[in-house]
Amino acid sequence: MSAHKIQIFDTTLRDGEQVPGCKLNKEEKLVIARQLELLGVDVIEAGFPISSPGDFDAVCAIARQTKEATVCGLSRAVEEDIKVAAEALREARYPRLHTGIGTSESHVRYKLRATQEQVLERAVQAVKLAKSFVEDVEFYAEDAGRTDNEFLARVCSAAVKAGATVLNIPDTTGYCLPQEYGAKIKYLYENVAGIEHARLSTHCHNDLGLATANSISGAINGARQIECTINGVGERAGNTALEEVVMIMKQHPYLGLHTSINTELLSETSALVSHMMRMPVQPNKAIVGANAFSHSSGIHQDGVIKNRSTYEIIDPKEVGVDSSSIVLTARSGRAALAYRLQKLGYTLEKEMLDIAYTSFLLVADVKKEVEDKDLHQLIEAKKLSVAS
Ligand code: KIV
Ligand code: ZN
Repeated sequence: MSAHKIQIFDTTLRDGEQVPGCKLNKEEKLVIARQLELLGVDVIEAGFPISSPGDFDAVCAIARQTKEATVCGLSRAVEEDIKVAAEALREARYPRLHTGIGTSESHVRYKLRATQEQVLERAVQAVKLAKSFVEDVEFYAEDAGRTDNEFLARVCSAAVKAGATVLNIPDTTGYCLPQEYGAKIKYLYENVAGIEHARLSTHCHNDLGLATANSISGAINGARQIECTINGVGERAGNTALEEVVMIMKQHPYLGLHTSINTELLSETSALVSHMMRMPVQPNKAIVGANAFSHSSGIHQDGVIKNRSTYEIIDPKEVGVDSSSIVLTARSGRAALAYRLQKLGYTLEKEMLDIAYTSFLLVADVKKEVEDKDLHQLIEAKKLSVAS
């Protein structure tokens, strides 16, 4: 059995919803929150309550509805933000207040026009205020990915002393390399005072396509929570994709990391979020893309027909997909054609299969994909006598 449980913190409804054109109304958020709970996420980040009355209402409604998962609300290290987030979370069974401040040089110097000592003091005050409302307080060090490790450890130590239960280490700009991000988590694990009282969390953005790799590297190096979104939705290039990190941990049990996600609900959850956010999933997206379990080249089809595991590392049923598919194209071989014909009730002797295959290639060269109706026509037209 795996040694470490990795909590899955889903921020589809907060960081994910910041994508232009993906705004959700309260009812849509409630439906997605219900599905996330069914999926088995540990934490639902429901929104940023001070950002708008609509978001405040949605966080209140999700807090009221959710029974098993922790419900989290975001705030900056600003008194009014924290008070409003605490109010929105009032009816949550397991409320978590997420507060924080930028710690990198560009945040401290240019965005906040402050000194490191002033930032540290604001972090402490924010955590203390949040702690006066809820027990579970998560502190984020925005742009931690580009923050000097020594200062980051000092801020995190102060946040833990002030009562933070979770330390979120965001690679806000998606800048880090996996070994660099993993080393940062390891450094914090070894240098934050009182770390035994808090959980380190990854929060990675995908600007260089490394969000998933960085999150896993963080977990290998001591993080016990991963922040992510369904389909990897999020600002710019998006956030870490939930389905990817969960399946990586499942496919590599020797890592000793496990989650409580019911992976058989991944496919339907992906489709629901894509539909409600009006954000199509790219066909070649890992785990949930339309082509994730379809095989179109002859060599691969032949291998999969003989034994699925030759070219598939995941049983599609594990992520809620009935079966993998063999797509018939001009790149398909005789084995795939025979396989599909057999499924349609036609068993062809070798000679007939050769004739059928020649006709099939003519059709396949003019069509992107040869469908079942084309195969029926082909068999009829050639009057291939068939033993089924
Ligand atoms: O990416 C980021 O830094 C964030 C924080 C606000 C948690 O989303
Ligand atoms: Zn973020």
